[in-house]
Amino acid sequence: MADRRIGIILNGATGRMGTTQHVPNLMAIAAEGGLKLRNGDRLVPHLLIVGRNPDRLAALAAAHGGLRWTTNLTEALHAQDDIFMDCAATGDRSLRVRRAIAAGKHIHIEKPTASTVDEAMELARLAHRAGVKHGVIQDKLFLPGFAKLLFVKNAGFFGRILSIKIDAGSWIFDGATQECQRPSWNYKRGEGGGLALDMMAHWRYMVDRLAAPVIGVSALMSTAIPKRVDERGQLYEVDVEDTSHALLKLEGGAVGVITNSWATRVRRDDTMVVQIDGTAGSAVAGRMRCFTQSAVGTPEAFFGGGRPANLDFFAQWQEVPDSLPVKNPFRQCWETFLRHVGEDAPYVSTLLEGAKAVQLADCAYRSAAEGRWMELPQLHL
Ligand SMILES: NC(=O)c1ccc[n+]([C@@H]2O[C@H](COP(=O)([O-])OP(=O)(O)OC[C@H]3O[C@@H](n4cnc5c(N)ncnc54)[C@H](O)[C@@H]3O)[C@@H](O)[C@H]2O)c1
Repeated sequence: MADRRIGIILNGATGRMGTTQHVPNLMAIAAEGGLKLRNGDRLVPHLLIVGRNPDRLAALAAAHGGLRWTTNLTEALHAQDDIFMDCAATGDRSLRVRRAIAAGKHIHIEKPTASTVDEAMELARLAHRAGVKHGVIQDKLFLPGFAKLLFVKNAGFFGRILSIKIDAGSWIFDGATQECQRPSWNYKRGEGGGLALDMMAHWRYMVDRLAAPVIGVSALMSTAIPKRVDERGQLYEVDVEDTSHALLKLEGGAVGVITNSWATRVRRDDTMVVQIDGTAGSAVAGRMRCFTQSAVGTPEAFFGGGRPANLDFFAQWQEVPDSLPVKNPFRQCWETFLRHVGEDAPYVSTLLEGAKAVQLADCAYRSAAEGRWMELPQLHL
């Protein structure tokens, strides 16, 4: 039994995901003495944080007990560290990942892995050929509500799945009257913005695993707020969509519907809600909770629903209990990837899976632009 130090380069560490998820979760693993592997060894994360602003890097490094830091990515990639994480803004991610693969690093990156499916597939192939381990953050199925929904599906509760419906989003202020909650690059195509590119990266793996693989998409996209105010108070033109409606064909005949917008107000259980209907039962989950209704527990709602205040539709559902302690989803992503690197444990969220997510966004954009259904061909390394 030994402690094995594993060097992790975190590029974009001072951004929101870096400061709130990747750095603290990796430091929590380190603080517990590392991740225990099957043979008893412990993998201890040793972070090298990379960014563009030395003051912010120095402050973040100090806040975590004196991490190594640099503003020079080239220098960082020449160091001995094992893993490259890119959690910087999405634009140009594929260029940075190519450099990390060429430097022989294992790759574990934020979604989306690239801006187009061709670039995303190129990265998956390069990493595969280089023989490095590779993965993308796919955190949503580790959220308790969606983890329970996956459990319900894997238990065979639904019978034949008929449909999956995703309703997600909330109001993002335009920065004029109230501060915008999302960085301005999210609203600029050239910097990797766009709601579909951002969020299809989650919807693809969720639909594939919760219902059935996506094989076709028809989408409509729109921009509700065409001008916004950025972090420096400057007005700018939005050149991406902030709303996307998509209809999905799934393998086996089920249908998916995604309503996703940063210009909608929340009156539902959560900011992300997924409903699956099947012949034997239905389930609805938000990020934290999941409810089911079986075929035999289904109330008569056709006539009953027509009489005001006669039926409480919410009362007919049963909550799926918590069975496991809740662990931060990003921590679970890291632990799964570290086991993959440290002991070759099985791993699902590879760069090929990341490319499938980008493919759904790509096809949705083409569908919206050309006004037609797009088939999603199978992707192979
Ligand atoms: N998994 C998830 O649920 C989830 C949630 C939010 C964001 N993300 C992803 O994480 C990434 C970062 O998002 P965020 O919300 O933390 O953004 P952010 O703007 O808060 O952070 C991005 C960081 O990248 C830096 N940066 C910007 N352009 C850069 C460039 N050209 N080169 C190097 N660094 C650059 C910024 O200075 C900032 O420090 C995005 O790819 C986003 O899609 C994932």
